[in-house]
Amino acid sequence: MTEQRIWDLPLRVFHWSLALSVILAVITARTGGNAMEWHMRLGYAVLTLLFWRLAWGFVGGHWSRFAAWPLWARVRRSASAESRPEFPGHSPRGAWASAGLLVLVGLQALTGLVADDEIATAGPWAAGVDAQWSALATNYHHGLGQWLVLGMIALHLLALSYYTWVRREALVAAMVHGRKVLRRAAPDSGDGAKLRALGLLLGLCSLAMVLLLVS
Ligand code: HEM
Ligand code: HEM
Repeated sequence: MTEQRIWDLPLRVFHWSLALSVILAVITARTGGNAMEWHMRLGYAVLTLLFWRLAWGFVGGHWSRFAAWPLWARVRRSASAESRPEFPGHSPRGAWASAGLLVLVGLQALTGLVADDEIATAGPWAAGVDAQWSALATNYHHGLGQWLVLGMIALHLLALSYYTWVRREALVAAMVHGRKVLRRAAPDSGDGAKLRALGLLLGLCSLAMVLLLVS
C-alpha cells in the first residue's frame, strides 16, 4: 500500500468552486427578482471554471488530463479484488459521470447566455440572436436543462454515497486533500508550485475571456 497525491490543488479548487457556484446559481434562480443579477454573475463564474477545466484537461496535472480518463476501459466483473485493475484517478464510470456533469452544466450556462424571461432578466446575448433560438434556449434552460443538471448532481451524490459507505473508498476526502491510498505506485500528479502557478494564470485568462465575451 502506498499513499499518493492524485488530485492537484487547482483541480480541487475548481471542483469545490464549481459545486458552490452551481448550487448558488440554482438557489438565486429559484429566488428570482433582484437575485437574478447574482444568478448571472454565478453563471459567469461557472463558465470561467468550465473554460479553465477544458484547458486543464490538456495541460493540468497527470490525473486531471482527459488522456488519463479510462473512458473505454473494461473491468471483468468476475475479477477478484486483488486482480482487478486499479484506477488512481477516475474509474471508468467516474470518468463518464464527470464528462456528463461537465457537458450538462456547460449546456446550462451556454443556454443561459441567450435566455430571456421576457419580463426583467435576459442573458447578454439574448438580443443578438433570432427570437426563435432565444425561446428554444430559454425553454431548455428553464425546463429540461435544469432538471438534467439537478438529476446528474443527485446521481453524483448517490454514487459517492455508495463508494463511501458500501465500498469504503475515501473518494470525497481525496477531493479535499488530494491523496489516495493505492495498491501500486502510480505516476506522479506533478502538483507543485509551477503547476499551481499555471493553474492560477489559466484561471485569470479564463475569467478575462468570459468578461470579454459577455461585456
Ligand atoms: C450552470 C449555471 C446555471 C444554472 C444551474 C442555471 C439555472 C437556472 C434555473 C434553474 C432557472 C429557472 C428559474 C425558474 O425556475 O424560474 C434559470 C433561469 C434563468 N437563467 Fe440560469 N442558470 C445558469 C447559468 C445562467 C447564465 C450563465 C445566465 C446568463 C448570463 C443565465 C440566465 C438566466 C435567465 C435569463 C433566466 C430566466 C429565464 C426564465 O426563467 O425564463 N443562467 N437559470
Ligand atoms: C453542485 C454540485 C457538484 C458538481 C457540479 C460537481 C461536479 C463534479 C465534476 C465535474 C467532477 C469531475 C472532476 C474533474 O473535472 O475531473 C466531480 C468529481 C467529484 N466530486 Fe463533485 N460535484 C458536485 C458536488 C459534489 C459534492 C457535494 C461532493 C462531496 C460530497 C463531490 C465529490 C466529488 C468527488 C469525490 C469527485 C471525484 C470522483 C472520482 O473519484 O471519480 N461533488 N464533481
